[in-house]
Amino acid sequence: MLDVEDLSVSYGAVQALQGVTFQAREGTVTAVLGANGAGKTTLLRTVSGLVKRQSGNVSYGGVELTGLSVENIVRLGISHVPEGRGVIEELTIDENLRLGTLWQFGRQERRSVLDEIYELFPQLAQRKRRMASTLSGGERQMLAIGRALSSKPKLLLLDEPSLGLAPLVTAQIMALIQELARETRLTVVLVEQNVRSALSIAEEAVVINLGRVVIADTAASVAADTELRHLYLGF
Ligand SMILES: Nc1ncnc2c1ncn2[C@@H]1O[C@H](COP(=O)(O)OP(=O)(O)OP(=O)(O)O)[C@@H](O)[C@H]1O
Ligand SMILES: [Mg+2]
Repeated sequence: MLDVEDLSVSYGAVQALQGVTFQAREGTVTAVLGANGAGKTTLLRTVSGLVKRQSGNVSYGGVELTGLSVENIVRLGISHVPEGRGVIEELTIDENLRLGTLWQFGRQERRSVLDEIYELFPQLAQRKRRMASTLSGGERQMLAIGRALSSKPKLLLLDEPSLGLAPLVTAQIMALIQELARETRLTVVLVEQNVRSALSIAEEAVVINLGRVVIADTAASVAADTELRHLYLGF
């Protein structure tokens, strides 16, 4: 379980997060929602060790993450797909996926991990030697997720995976995320501007506004709260 407690983060004078508390349970999708500048990306970057917290605690499976290097956080089983897709365009699909395995596995294991990823994404398997720069937006997002999965994480942090994708491709990606949580017990924290899509696959939802949690409840309750939706989620 991911446990975020009273977390505050600032960039100089900008208070990006203030007293943020929520949990993400094993094998579930927790949606993190909120307008532009709410602090969603900052939250993910703090969990994965890219941004320093000001105060509060972040722990995963009872292990305090504060002060750990990004590399050690990955080794604990936490993987992050950044906003704008984490793929390296100058590398092939296969090379991108191999990169994800580097910190975790020996040679032998790497091969079998890659085979599992290709099984999940047959579209990528057919194009192993192609440069990532030639992929469509949806394929690129799949590669970014595949690369994150190639470290065999227990917790996956996804920052706006639907950004710029057509509705059908978004639906495909959302279905995959839901399946991963259900079938492999992966814990997912899903940051999304596409609120409807995110709520349709999430069990829990956290709404953030100007760095503070407005509500952390079941996705069903958040979706049913008309006033909250109008005020913070724009629908
Ligand atoms: N590196 C930075 N330096 C200074 N301020 C930053 C930095 N990154 C983010 N901020 C500020 O922190 C606040 C939260 O930003 P963040 O990117 O976490 O929001 P977000 O919810 O992900 O927004 P979006 O939906 O636009 O991606 C914003 O006011 C933003 O301008
Ligand atoms: Mg963001």
